[in-house]
Amino acid sequence: MAPTLAQAQTSAPALAGAQAELALGKRLFTETAKPAACALCHTLKDADAEGAIGPILDEIKPDAERVKRALRSGGVGAMPSFLGLTEQEMQALARYVAQASGGASAASAASK
Ligand code: HEC
Repeated sequence: MAPTLAQAQTSAPALAGAQAELALGKRLFTETAKPAACALCHTLKDADAEGAIGPILDEIKPDAERVKRALRSGGVGAMPSFLGLTEQEMQALARYVAQASGGASAASAASK
């Protein structure tokens, strides 16, 4: 049987790449995202973030697609858009937030 995509993604080099991506996502979330770090407005336990302007990400548990939509859409409600981020940065943030909030838990449980 051909390896599934989930199996391919857990191979060692892919795993190292995924960890680097999560680290980049976390840094963007807590400090470096422009125009403002996500932590300023959002609570996310994994990032020690306690912002109270936007929804608590640990509760809404967005998957990566939902995070990307929020970043791209030109902003939702009081949330600014993050169209200045590179594609790689958006991807890293989306993966990190989905992972850290538990929004990706169904997907990661399936690949274990
Ligand atoms: C200036 C404050 C602010 C910043 C900075 C901010 N957000 Fe938000 N965010 C909000 C608010 C307010 C909402 C709720 C918008 C609404 O639904 O009206 C929101 C909503 C969201 C949602 C849910 C969207 C949905 O589908 O309901 C996600 C996911 C999200 N933000 C992720 C992020 C990420 C990732 C960052 C950093 C790149 C970020 N936010 C930065 C204020 C902010």
